[in-house]
Amino acid sequence: MTSIKAAITGVGGYVPDYILNNAELSRMVDTSDEWITQRVGIKERRILKEEGKATSFLAINAIKELLKKTNTEPGEIDLLVVSTITGDMRFPTVSNLVCKELGMTTALNFDLSAACSGFVYGIETVSRMVESGAYKKAILVGADMMSSITNYNDRSTSPLFGDAAAAVMLEPTTEDVGIIDRIIGFDGKGTDFLYLKAGGSLYPPTYETIDNGDHFLFQEGKTVFKSAVSTMSDISVDIMKRNNISSDELKWLVPHQANMRIIEAVARRMGIEREQVMINIDRYGNTTAATIPMCFWDYEKQLKKGDNVIIASFGAGFTFGSIYLKWAYDPA
Ligand code: ACO
Repeated sequence: MTSIKAAITGVGGYVPDYILNNAELSRMVDTSDEWITQRVGIKERRILKEEGKATSFLAINAIKELLKKTNTEPGEIDLLVVSTITGDMRFPTVSNLVCKELGMTTALNFDLSAACSGFVYGIETVSRMVESGAYKKAILVGADMMSSITNYNDRSTSPLFGDAAAAVMLEPTTEDVGIIDRIIGFDGKGTDFLYLKAGGSLYPPTYETIDNGDHFLFQEGKTVFKSAVSTMSDISVDIMKRNNISSDELKWLVPHQANMRIIEAVARRMGIEREQVMINIDRYGNTTAATIPMCFWDYEKQLKKGDNVIIASFGAGFTFGSIYLKWAYDPA
């Protein structure tokens, strides 16, 4: 019996127009272009400034482009998963808002929360559902409006994040392409080092939580950095080894874009060249669940059918994952 795999068959993306560069940020907090470039590798990030717009707006625009590029009607979509930690509201879900706006009224839809591993967890979830045969045209979106939970008075976190969304279509295939292997995990070591304290059921909003800045993201950068380097390197090397992919045979590493130094360390451990790594952190910063599909969006014209691709992520939790896939189509 021929097995069904799930393959990415299209990509769409969206970033807001407003560019917050390091020069402007240096006027807001005590930092410099030199520090941010050397320590993190970011030059600018996009910020959604339009009144009344939030994460669903980013996701809707990314999906609109995806539907157009793939000649798909909204009614054909039977599954929509939105990976995000910055939903417009506690409920309804971003996926509900997207489906309402785009008329995807028959799609099973839900949000998935796994922070920076949101897209990888989403690929695991959606690909399994497509492989089951129950879903024929699925969309996975990574969408985050990180500016809504970033403290622009804090120099240790404000340079890092940006707003974006990117969407992929996943469809069943019997060809030798698509999602082949996955390592998905959670180690429980990170819950004290990367979190947003208030606004949930433990600390509902009060004047005190607002005064304390508890509605902004907190991270102990050094601890997160060390775990990100070792875990992302380990799982990326592991997935290469167990699929017998040499460094020459790997066409692309698509790493979560949190820090250029993390990306370089992972690539070094894998024994691959700079040209084999998708990088756009300099232009968008860390857009959480959106970084990996944003790379696909940026590099789509360079991707060819059959390319060996490994994606790797690490984020709050700590959650992590690497996925080995063969790209399913040539550039248009
Ligand atoms: N400008 C200038 N100086 C700064 C800045 C800044 N923007 N930020 C911090 N510094 C200073 C600090 O005050 C400190 O000064 P001191 O030595 O006088 O005390 C010095 O620079 C070093 O600070 P560190 O925090 O040790 O800097 P580090 O080299 O670790 O870089 C960073 C910080 C960029 C945050 C890094 O630790 C990192 O990238 N961590 C991982 C981030 C990540 O992967 N997050 C996961 C995803 S997020 C998610 O899941 C939502």
